Amino acid sequence: MNITVCGTGYVGLVAAVVFASKGHRVIGLDIDECKISLLRGGASPLFEPGLEELMAKSSCNLEFTADYRKAYESADVIFVAVPTPEKADGSAELSYVMQACDQIAESRERGCIVVVKSTVPPGTNDRIQAYFDDIAGSAPGRRFNVVSNPEFLSQGTALRDMLYPARIVVGVQDDDAADLMRALYQPFDAPVMVMDLRSAELVKYASNDFLALKISYINEIANLCDVVGADIERVAAGMGADPRIGDKFLRAGIGYGGSCFPKDTKALHWLSTCHGHEIKTIKAAIEVNTAQKTMLVAKAKERYGSLAGKRIAVLGLTFKPDTDDLRDAPSLDVVRMLLDEGAQTVLYDPCGMPAFEGRYPASLGVLEYAGDPYEALRDSDMAFILTEWEEFASITADQYRSLMGTPEIYDGRNMYSLDAFRGTSVRYVSIGRPVVE
Ligand code: UDX
Repeated sequence: MNITVCGTGYVGLVAAVVFASKGHRVIGLDIDECKISLLRGGASPLFEPGLEELMAKSSCNLEFTADYRKAYESADVIFVAVPTPEKADGSAELSYVMQACDQIAESRERGCIVVVKSTVPPGTNDRIQAYFDDIAGSAPGRRFNVVSNPEFLSQGTALRDMLYPARIVVGVQDDDAADLMRALYQPFDAPVMVMDLRSAELVKYASNDFLALKISYINEIANLCDVVGADIERVAAGMGADPRIGDKFLRAGIGYGGSCFPKDTKALHWLSTCHGHEIKTIKAAIEVNTAQKTMLVAKAKERYGSLAGKRIAVLGLTFKPDTDDLRDAPSLDVVRMLLDEGAQTVLYDPCGMPAFEGRYPASLGVLEYAGDPYEALRDSDMAFILTEWEEFASITADQYRSLMGTPEIYDGRNMYSLDAFRGTSVRYVSIGRPVVE
């Protein structure tokens, strides 16, 4: 098939590369000329393990352009994978999706299947269908048939998630579209769940929001562990062994970030409220997550009253490991709180520092950027761990001691076992687990 994917962000680029690897002829379209020239040179603008390698292997089936007419004119299927960022009121910004629809209708003589992969609120694809019918007409041969096909990939494991999905959700209006989508996904060896447009749209929000809720729930239980003297690792293991609960997304920490959970929870809450049916559990998940980001600073302040003048190493800035993405990363709030406290901070992240420095320049004089975690830790009073990068896991209690003297670690990701610090004179504070001192 000839496939065009509009948008070369995480969802669009990974989809384009994976469909090309399955033998389709794929054009990736983006308005960003810089991205297109990078992609044409075989480089990925995203930090995603394995992506450049698969791009290289599939290069004979893959081209990139910023010219939408060329990209759209002869496609059999068009995927729309443009961003739907959060608006000030929490709702989803749909203007990029609508602009893509305009350009599709303008570029084509004949209709085709338009698959919306962007995360859009229930009812949006019906509106997009009506919009196409309005601007393009619905005469036979000229009708655009809108399909919903939400994407569930996670950053850092995006290729694996797209190549080996647990399920493929497809919202359609007729059998032709269902047959085409089944044929497209036939090589993926995953169940294709065909349903109506609105249900497919809601599967995406409900799934993301349920996972966000699960994280906020375990974080609240972790905070209760601190009060009653239990250990969240043991509690989560005990809960997760029940297959009705499952052991995934029960890692307590300083809260979720990223491009999806914060935005999608707010969008669903906004939507439900507009329909006069507020989802109170999602509201609670959002509130708990906001509070959770303050937890490490609160623990340090509980001990010292003020953090003014303390030298604090911050290890990890990205919202999770194996990405350079800082969107809604807890580090943005934590570093701001440390600066407000009057602390001197020295930051290190394997991938996130250039973008972080754009927001928090070293010229402020109260923060420094280190070349590696050891440089960040040297002569610091405390270490705050905000992202569980693999390279931090190998730092030993002895190394902390020799770099910091009398180290205090505030671990927002529960990276280490408590045993790693017992009897070492390192003070180790984590989330929902007893303090080791
Ligand atoms: C998420 C969804 O998992 C994915 O299906 C959807 O398509 C996009 O949003 P992503 O944002 O890439 O993917 O990351 P994910 O691995 O889900 O983690 C999101 C955040 O939750 C991170 O900040 C992570 O640290 C946090 N998290 C995750 C926890 O705090 N505890 C957990 O147990 C799991």
